[in-house]
Amino acid sequence: NSVFKGDFKEIIISEEELKQRIKELGKEITESYNEDDDIVMLCILRGAIIFMADLSREIDLPVTFDFMDVSSYGASTKSSGVVRIIKDMEENIEGRHLLIVEDIIDTGRTLKHVVDILKTRDPKSIKVVTLLDKPERREQKEIEADFNGFEVPDKFVVGYGLDFAEKYRNLSFIGVLKEKMYN
Ligand code: PRP
Ligand code: MN
Ligand code: MG
Repeated sequence: NSVFKGDFKEIIISEEELKQRIKELGKEITESYNEDDDIVMLCILRGAIIFMADLSREIDLPVTFDFMDVSSYGASTKSSGVVRIIKDMEENIEGRHLLIVEDIIDTGRTLKHVVDILKTRDPKSIKVVTLLDKPERREQKEIEADFNGFEVPDKFVVGYGLDFAEKYRNLSFIGVLKEKMYN
């Protein structure tokens, strides 16, 4: 995706680093379940879609895909604080293992909201995998991922599923935009 390279101040995670770490995460996740476990992988749209696609192919277990569309940011670099469920998941998760797939945990509000709702549906277990974790910004202290790809500093990062105003999701790397790109 060289067309966007000039928009970036720095690249913080390269395509190679992403590939390598996602392979490791897939292995960790595979080892944490039993071979005959019934696992539903829930992708939190839209940001987690690229990560879900790549991670799922590194998990050596049968999984069911599902999707939930949740939004809190809109066209801004700051969370609005209001988490909206735009589309609920389709699968019945009662008695099944739920693996929530996120691209980033920032304040933790999105994940808190999703986990609170899904707990009431009595899954056998709930685990969370996030590609990125930004602990400095966390408001929901109890929100932690079971599997975490990379810790990132308190900078607005885009690429590999993460957007700014719906742009940059289709990049193979993760980086920080130049200031002028926000205006
Ligand atoms: C982003 C990101 C996470 C969430 C993290 O989603 O993909 O889902 O915000 O922020 P939080 O921990 O402060 O809640 P966004 O609402 O921008 O929607 P998107 O995935 O469609 O871009
Ligand atoms: Mn998201
Ligand atoms: Mg977004």
